[in-house]
This record gives sequence, structure tokens and C-alpha cells, in this order.
Amino acid sequence: MSAQAHLQVKSLGAGYSGFSVLRDIDIEVRPGITVILGPNGAGKTTLLRALAGLMPRHGEVLLDGALLPPQDATTCVRRGLALVAEGRQLFPQMTVRENLELGGWLVPAGERPRRLAQAFEDFPRLKERNQQLAGTMSGGEQQMVAVARAMMSAPRLLMLDEPSLGLAPRMVDELLAIVQRIARQQGVTVLMVEQNVRKALSVADRGYVLERGRIVAADGAKELLASDAIRRAYLGTA
Ligand SMILES: Nc1ncnc2c1ncn2[C@@H]1O[C@H](COP(=O)(O)OP(=O)(O)OP(=O)(O)O)[C@@H](O)[C@H]1O
Ligand SMILES: [Mg+2]
Repeated sequence: MSAQAHLQVKSLGAGYSGFSVLRDIDIEVRPGITVILGPNGAGKTTLLRALAGLMPRHGEVLLDGALLPPQDATTCVRRGLALVAEGRQLFPQMTVRENLELGGWLVPAGERPRRLAQAFEDFPRLKERNQQLAGTMSGGEQQMVAVARAMMSAPRLLMLDEPSLGLAPRMVDELLAIVQRIARQQGVTVLMVEQNVRKALSVADRGYVLERGRIVAADGAKELLASDAIRRAYLGTA
């Protein structure tokens, strides 16, 4: 297996038609799980989209020391990045299995059955329901389909935008446990945006706090969980 992915982001800026959202972002995504926290509108989704090559950006993004071209999503996927966007974006009229197969479009055809078997091993729930139409799966199950579909491209860096949004607590735990296994056992580096701050920090290794387009805190997940500022702003306790 290739070494685990390491992403370095230097002075990144991005925005929409002339108005800037992200300014001077320096982050480092090392093997393991890195979480990005921050209030609504802080720019978290914009950051993941800019890293995935889905929108213009300036600054430097290096994957394992080599520059990633801006605004070139296909190259990003080929180099091993996968993004599970907010809101899942499944094909509701296709089966779970068909949705997963579409996620493997860039892996060699001969490798797809192995990826599919791995996806069913990681997400046993989906194996049972592989013939069900994706649109009829529960919200939590659909989120699992979205993550499993991203895993079909055999990513080295998996980016997740609020994977637990709208899920019941038990489903959040199940999903985060799977993400943890993907990171620990399969050696996939994970960068995750989460509003479920306590649970996210309890599975993560490191975290960044993004506010109004800037990184305002960076530390180990344990340290962030224990910090007064994080507790006050994000955990509702002092
Ligand atoms: N397509 C767009 N066109 C113009 N402005 C946008 C667009 N998408 C996002 N924005 C703006 O960029 C800023 C950051 O949005 P972004 O979606 O990155 O925030 P976020 O941190 O992901 O918020 P949330 O927690 O609500 O998902 C917001 O002010 C938003 O209105
Ligand atoms: Mg968002």
C-alpha cells in the first residue's frame, strides 16, 4: 500500500464572483482524522470545495509534497482525493449498488468488484440493501451510501462535509465508527467538517476552528475538547 496521504495548504484564499470567503488559510492534514469546526457561514464547505478542485482558489495545495492544480476536480480524484458533499447527491432512482458502481468510474474496471466487496464489508447495512432504490433509503443509510460511493474511487484522502447532518445519535455513532475504521485500518487520511463537535473531536486526532474565513484555532482533538473557548462556543458548557 502507498504511504498515507499528507495535504499541506498554504495561504489559501477562495470566494465567489469577486467576494472573498477564505483568507490566508494554512492547514496541514496529516494521516489520521482532522476535523474542521466553525459556525454556519464560516467557509467550511467552501474550503472543502476549493481543496477538491471544484472552484477557483489561490495559494498552494500540496499532496505529498506535489502541487495540486486548482479547479481541476478530475485530476484531484485521480490523485486520490474524494469529497462527500453536503446533501449526499445520490441518484435516487438507481439502486444502492448502481450508485456505488458509479463511484468507481475512475478505477480500472478489473478493480471495481474488489472495491465493491470492500464497500459492502465496510458498510454491511448496504450489502443487505444493495438492490434498494437509493432514494428510498433512510437519511442515515443514504449518508452511508454517499461515503461508500466516495470510497469506491479508492481515495487516499477522504473529505466529508457534515456527514452526520440530520442523523439520529445512534446513526452518528455508527457512521463515525466506520469513518474511524477507514482511517485507522485502511490508512485513508480523513478531513471532516462537523457540527457534531463533541463526537467529531472524540474520533479525530486534530482539529481546526474556522471563523469568518480564517483559522482561529488549531490543536490536537483532545486539547480542543478540553479548551474553555471551544467548550463555551461549541459545546455549550464552560
Ligand atoms: N455559490 C455561492 N455563491 C455565493 N456565495 C456563496 C456560495 N456558496 C457559499 N457562499 C457564501 O460563502 C460563505 C461561506 O459559505 P460556506 O457554505 O462555505 O459556509 P459553511 O461554513 O459551510 O456553513 P454551514 O455550516 O452553514 O454549512 C457564506 O457567506 C455563503 O453565503
Ligand atoms: Mg457547509
